[in-house]
Amino acid sequence: MKTLIANWKMNVGIRESVALARGTLLTLRGRKLIPELVICPSFIALSEVRKIVARSSVSLGAQNVFWEPSGAYTGETSTRMLQEVGVSYVILGHSERRQELGETDEMIHKKVLHVLSEQMTPIVCIGESKQQHEAGQTQEVIRTQLISALSQVYLRGSERVLIAYEPLWAIGSGVVASVGEVIEVHQFIRSLLQELFAGVSSQQIPLLYGGSVDGENAYGFLREELIDGLLVGGASVKINQFKDIVEACGEVLEAQGI
Ligand code: 13P
Repeated sequence: MKTLIANWKMNVGIRESVALARGTLLTLRGRKLIPELVICPSFIALSEVRKIVARSSVSLGAQNVFWEPSGAYTGETSTRMLQEVGVSYVILGHSERRQELGETDEMIHKKVLHVLSEQMTPIVCIGESKQQHEAGQTQEVIRTQLISALSQVYLRGSERVLIAYEPLWAIGSGVVASVGEVIEVHQFIRSLLQELFAGVSSQQIPLLYGGSVDGENAYGFLREELIDGLLVGGASVKINQFKDIVEACGEVLEAQGI
């Protein structure tokens, strides 16, 4: 199985989101093998987009959530509210929120626990900055973020957590990480996960890559066994680009017979 997650960020309003959702559904038409596909519109577009993707294989994700079930938290959105509009996945700890909005490892940890307790699937983003990358601190940063996000997490039954490795220097920059670099980090994450979650299968914790993914480079990542999918930003709001990514994914799935 391969997973594609479209993170539309704050790029499209309601009308454009509806059109984009229709376009995204069309990219799946006529395909024998399709990936697990999750689209993450802005909060205000969720209920309209839900109408488009209802009764399709496409799932709905949110770009954030609060860690309390309800209460006096002005401006925040709860898991229950998201469930009301059909959301089953939530992106947590995106670097843009860590950097621009001061989200800490502790806040992200609380969100992960809460999302799981509400039977939703967290997509946890981790990744190092350019400076940390150049200083050779990638593994150290990844370890800290991962251990913090996943402490006290126990995956029961078919519960899942998706991990997205998104190096900050590759996000929105056009500077894509090399397949070799991603594989090296994914190997490291996988070995950490084996320590943290003995007996949990890798399908329960898929590892995705994100950062300047486009229609041209997607295939190179997706064909790797250690890369379970992609978290796509800019190219997910350009329907022709996203179509190429879905197509690349289809080719990989057919080649692998999965
Ligand atoms: P880009 O694909 O625009 O680099 O963004 C990646 C990302 O942040 C997805 O969450």
